[in-house]
Amino acid sequence: ETTLKFSVLAGDYIGPEVMRSALRVLEKVAAQEGLKLDYSEHAVGGCAIDAHGTALPEATLTACEAADAILFGSVGGPKWESLPPKEQPERAALLPLRKHFTLFANIRPGLLYPELREASPLKNERIPEGIDIVCIRELTGGIYFGQPKRTTLLNGGTDVESVDTMIYRKSEIERITEVAITAARSRKRRLCSVDKANVLETSVLWRKTVSDYVAANAPDIELSHMLVDNAAMQLVRDPGQFDVFVTENMFGDILSDEMAVICGSLGMLSSASLGARKNTLGLPYGLYEPAGGTAPDIAGKGIANPCAQILSGALMLRYSFGLEDAATRIERAVREVVASGTRTGDIAFGRTAVGTEQMTEKILGAL
Ligand code: NAD
Ligand code: IPM
Ligand code: MN
Repeated sequence: ETTLKFSVLAGDYIGPEVMRSALRVLEKVAAQEGLKLDYSEHAVGGCAIDAHGTALPEATLTACEAADAILFGSVGGPKWESLPPKEQPERAALLPLRKHFTLFANIRPGLLYPELREASPLKNERIPEGIDIVCIRELTGGIYFGQPKRTTLLNGGTDVESVDTMIYRKSEIERITEVAITAARSRKRRLCSVDKANVLETSVLWRKTVSDYVAANAPDIELSHMLVDNAAMQLVRDPGQFDVFVTENMFGDILSDEMAVICGSLGMLSSASLGARKNTLGLPYGLYEPAGGTAPDIAGKGIANPCAQILSGALMLRYSFGLEDAATRIERAVREVVASGTRTGDIAFGRTAVGTEQMTEKILGAL
């Protein structure tokens, strides 16, 4: 009997609401497939600040160290926005977790089922077959982590200066390119690298490194380059032109939210964050989380879309536990339920919306 050992970090606002759904789905799949779930829940983010005085308690990190994967919810929100910026949940818990486990590759599947086309803000004639794009976002470099990062008072306090630093090394670009090549090889072998090489030094290095690396190691891949402003525009103009795109940390953050909404809703976008580290099964250690945040505007109402969290659980089964069939079954069940018209408010568009609980029940039923 295979044991799935993972730690559950639900976080804040809708985090615990959608995590409950994901765990129910995983429990059901495990029962069906004869798998044993061995997970424990740990405090992270704002609720960890409230309970333990720190967004990433030592015990949480220790539990993640001992696990084969992390299933993550979302952290942060208005309740902690008055804290010093460095102590807020996003910067004190999520970013350190990504860095600690060197989770440099963030995979975000932008999938719009044809049955959900009406939920896309794009005109349906632009997306006759739905949308199927993969965003590969570099996750541990760039302007998120570069030093110096500081705020200083100037002129005796009459002015203020803040600095963030965007840094990339060739080696960091090569390793994310490798992940993008692997993703492209499992699909249409078309890779678009997105940068700002007309302005940024890091982007000049990015473009040259991706070009050289693909030329030397993946001549079977059709590589193109696009400036990020154009990419933002092309995504809404004609998403069908993209297969896999790879980009640096902040561009990927922004473009993936855009990708999410043209695919129906941020509440549908799952993600896998992987690195070089292997788990005890010899498979990639990973952190799996919805791309969206804690949605404070809808938290506590029982109406959040649980699909991104459920699908993140499926990605965990696929990448960190090698359970392709179980992952596919979850993905099929989600698609079937959405296609049948059972939908939370964010994707309902004129239909009667169901709540998180009812959506989850339907998905459990479809498994
Ligand atoms: P958000 O992603 O939380 O919400 C943006 C919009 O999308 C909101 O209208 C929200 O209701 C909607 N939405 C998001 N997920 C949804 C779901 N599952 N179902 C239905 N609707 C959904 O972004 P925000 O409002 O800018 O950020 C809120 C907080 O979340 C901030 O503190 C931010 O830093 C944090 N955040 C955390 C993560 C993370 O932990 N991974 C990711 C993004 C944002
Ligand atoms: C995401 C989020 C995070 C990011 C925040 C919460 C730090 O927006 O995962 O997309 O910017 O990476
Ligand atoms: Mn984001």
